[in-house]
Amino acid sequence: MAKKQSSNGKGQSKAPHPSGDERYKVIDRTMKRFKYEKDALLEVLHATQETFGFLSDDLLIYISNHLQVPLSQVYGVATFYHLFTFEPLGKHNCIICTGTACHVKGSASIAEAISQKFNVPIGKTTEDGLLSLTTARCLGSCGLAPVTVLDGEVHGKATDESTIERVERVLANEVKV
Ligand code: FES
Repeated sequence: MAKKQSSNGKGQSKAPHPSGDERYKVIDRTMKRFKYEKDALLEVLHATQETFGFLSDDLLIYISNHLQVPLSQVYGVATFYHLFTFEPLGKHNCIICTGTACHVKGSASIAEAISQKFNVPIGKTTEDGLLSLTTARCLGSCGLAPVTVLDGEVHGKATDESTIERVERVLANEVKV
């Protein structure tokens, strides 16, 4: 899906995104702020994730075209950082740290336990859209390994049982509403 390029070789067309989705303006503004420099890639990815909640193929292609950065490089950067996601997340997100310290202390078992208990594959969202199960390479709290994060709340020295309990609690509240 080639985008029309401006005459100066960069992709900063003033035309609105053909979808009419206003959120693309946030990406445009961010790229403009950084003068469409390739070095702005990480900032632009951040702004995009914040605005859309995830990075779709279309968004990555859009960024690649406008910053004139090869799509493979855009994917490379986006997949390197654990904070980027490629599918819309569920209402609640349970992150299991799979960094070395947490792995050694059993984080794989926690991820598997959550996956089985709530019937959600790792990296995916339940069919009802309520719970996503994602992983991160290191959450920066290795002393508390194994670490999980549920809806932004860090849980150190986690176990299969304690993590299941926490997830059950937020989902129970959900049902009551
Ligand atoms: S490895 Fe899990 S917090 Fe660092």
